[in-house]
Amino acid sequence: MAKNPAKPPLPRLAGVIGWPIGHSMSPLIHQTFAAREGVDAVYLPIVAEPGFEAFARAAEALREMGFKGVNVTLPHKENALRYAETASDAAKKTGAANMLTFNTESGTVAANSDATGFRRMLLDSKVSTRKTLVIGAGGAARAILWALRRKPFITEVTVSNRTRARADEVALIANAHVIDWERRNDALADADLVVNTTSLGMINQPSLDLDCERLRPGSVVCDIVYTPLKTKLLEQAEARGLRTIDGLTMLMHQAVPGYKAWLGTRAEVDEDLRARLEAALAGGKTR
Ligand code: ATR
Repeated sequence: MAKNPAKPPLPRLAGVIGWPIGHSMSPLIHQTFAAREGVDAVYLPIVAEPGFEAFARAAEALREMGFKGVNVTLPHKENALRYAETASDAAKKTGAANMLTFNTESGTVAANSDATGFRRMLLDSKVSTRKTLVIGAGGAARAILWALRRKPFITEVTVSNRTRARADEVALIANAHVIDWERRNDALADADLVVNTTSLGMINQPSLDLDCERLRPGSVVCDIVYTPLKTKLLEQAEARGLRTIDGLTMLMHQAVPGYKAWLGTRAEVDEDLRARLEAALAGGKTR
């Protein structure tokens, strides 16, 4: 044996923190990107109980273990922002972070790739919009509203949410109009992009009741729900001959900034990745 054998390099480490976390698709997305370019990387699902203290303890341990960074999912997106020393504009403006990068020159940096991922998705899908209707006013709506107010999108945004006060609050992010929940269908004739940011349409949830007949030809309907992949909303839009973008598309795009920051250099969102995720969803297997 050689006297001073060179230490093999350690794999690059990253992960996703949440509660629950067992069904996250992020490990599969990141492992696929890494395998494609031969990067020695490990991307783990990490559970941290609700509450800032539990989150901060987990994040601290991961940072000390040499994790490059982590994605953050429910219920910790606000905790991640609070934990970080520095935050991107998107994270600050949306009040939430789904990415933490450890040990940078500015300490731990929080970012929001739900916002940048949504933006990239519209650009890649060549969707341009002048009037957008956003349904919902939760965390996902905040990220999407932030994305819509940035160049090159020149869009007038309308928000509709069951709880009006929440709509009024998130509307400030994009200087958006607000329309009462009961009147949401009235905004359809004008919209060229409609985005469902609520959990309506998800398995075991009621579907989102929108009158797709009132949408004009050429408009695009986007749903962040991906279980099922084809929600009733998307089915109805397709039946009208409209273009649709499903929740898996946004999910794939939001993973790209984290992968490039922590693990590798190339992260292609393509049909092969989609097929893997669809197979995993069908088989209930995410790693
Ligand atoms: P997230 O951070 O994932 O967006 P959230 O903050 O709980 O989650 O937001 C969920 C969104 O779905 C909200 O816009 C919520 O409407 P309210 O603000 O009125 O709660 C919406 N939502 C959930 N269930 C709904 C239902 N049955 N009908 C209408 N909207 C619903």
